[in-house]
Amino acid sequence: MHNARLTLDPAFRIGTIDRRLFGSFVEHMGRCVYTGIFEPGHPRADDQGFRTDVLDLAGELGVTVVRYPGGNFVSNYRWEDGVGPRESRPTRLDLAWRSIESNQFGLGEYMSWIRRLGAEPMLAVNLGTRGLAEAVDLLEYCNFPGGTEMSDRRIENGDPEPYGVKLWCLGNEMDGPWQMGHQTAHEYGRKAAETARAMRRLDPSVELVACGSSNRQMPTFGSWEAAVLEQTYDQVDYISMHAYYQEHDGDADSFLACAVDMDAFIEDVISTADHVRAVGRHRKRLKISFDEWNVWYASRFGGEASLDWAAAPRLIEDEYSVLDAVVVGTFLISLIGHADRVAIGCQAQLANIIAPIRTEPGGPAWRQTIFHPFAAAARLARGEALRVAHDSPLIDTARYGPVPALTAAASLDPSTGDTALFAVNRDRTGPLSLTVDLRALPGASLRSHEVLADDDQRRTNNQQHPDRVAPRAVAGRVEDGRLTVTLPPASWNVLEISTDAK
Ligand code: AHR
Repeated sequence: MHNARLTLDPAFRIGTIDRRLFGSFVEHMGRCVYTGIFEPGHPRADDQGFRTDVLDLAGELGVTVVRYPGGNFVSNYRWEDGVGPRESRPTRLDLAWRSIESNQFGLGEYMSWIRRLGAEPMLAVNLGTRGLAEAVDLLEYCNFPGGTEMSDRRIENGDPEPYGVKLWCLGNEMDGPWQMGHQTAHEYGRKAAETARAMRRLDPSVELVACGSSNRQMPTFGSWEAAVLEQTYDQVDYISMHAYYQEHDGDADSFLACAVDMDAFIEDVISTADHVRAVGRHRKRLKISFDEWNVWYASRFGGEASLDWAAAPRLIEDEYSVLDAVVVGTFLISLIGHADRVAIGCQAQLANIIAPIRTEPGGPAWRQTIFHPFAAAARLARGEALRVAHDSPLIDTARYGPVPALTAAASLDPSTGDTALFAVNRDRTGPLSLTVDLRALPGASLRSHEVLADDDQRRTNNQQHPDRVAPRAVAGRVEDGRLTVTLPPASWNVLEISTDAK
């Protein structure tokens, strides 16, 4: 068996983990909203049509913030269509996903739903087919107490209290030629800066996200961030990142290693933002909103042109394997490992569309394999992220070269002394023996070690077998301040360690 080592020390502090790192995303796309979170008439629907089985699962998943309403959808969306009496809401063509949008779920429903979930709202404004005026109207509708056209409309629609939405995305993926109203970096930067200035005039407490690149492969990646931030730096709080990964041509080793690309992507965006900071003599340091990330088998998607004006079609409903869940675990490790600069994370999406929760119309809801790593990280990664100094054997990969078999992240909650260690063995062929040096953590003892792994690494959960893949408890021991555990092949591991390090 190969051996790996790491040291946990409260002095090796990366930064405080923002609870917003464990966010999700609900887009009007496919069946995320309709028959996902919202299905009037479903046996488990409440009086507002929200599926309570999905609400329960989303609560268990532990999502802290939910971005809405898109995604590509937002760039041709009129938010006014989704408010007011349902019977008078228009049915529209959604050009992003060539779908029919009934508008039976809109802003008011989203706000009620998110309150029921107990999570924070995060809204995106349409800077594609619309602009500053509509964004300010929407903000007035949401956050102004009353006595004005838009705020009174909210009150008439049954919500007397302002929503108090803090987090706002200034458009979505505006660098992408697929985006309705796609712009150059210069055009978008100017539009975003002016929109941000007006929104802050209305409500100085808002936190604003400028669009970064849609992915690291975009030909404009890097120059886009620089050009946008040159115009918006003082007006925004975050720059967005989006990344999706999949296994290519059966190359599972490279797939298991792909979080090294996510790490490099994050570090590139930090460097670019810091370059703009230096050149512009800015004081503040910008943070990242990684507001779309996941495993997505995008090569199976026929593209927007393959879609044919259906309402809530079955779209990119990827069924995830054990391997996919382990890779999702490596993404969570990457996010926690950059807690000093990544403040917001949204796994895309919450239900049905590349999602941890799957549903059947009129039928059950269940946890996909990727549900489990997210739920564990959202529950346990609290307090300070610790730098995990590790020593690991390497795996040769075709895409990324030699990559450590072990990747790990850790947190220490100073209020309780609770420490969580998240560790992945990327080696598909053999277990990894891991020794964790805990001597810097007084009174350390292992509370639990949970593993997600399977002899069949392609095993999935589905409607017939909803709990076939789930974490299981295994044993480990601490001796002389050193913890020794075995990480099975291709496994996600969660270790809870109690300490006196308060
Ligand atoms: O999450 C699915 C889509 O992926 C989103 O609409 C878009 O922002 C991204 O390209």
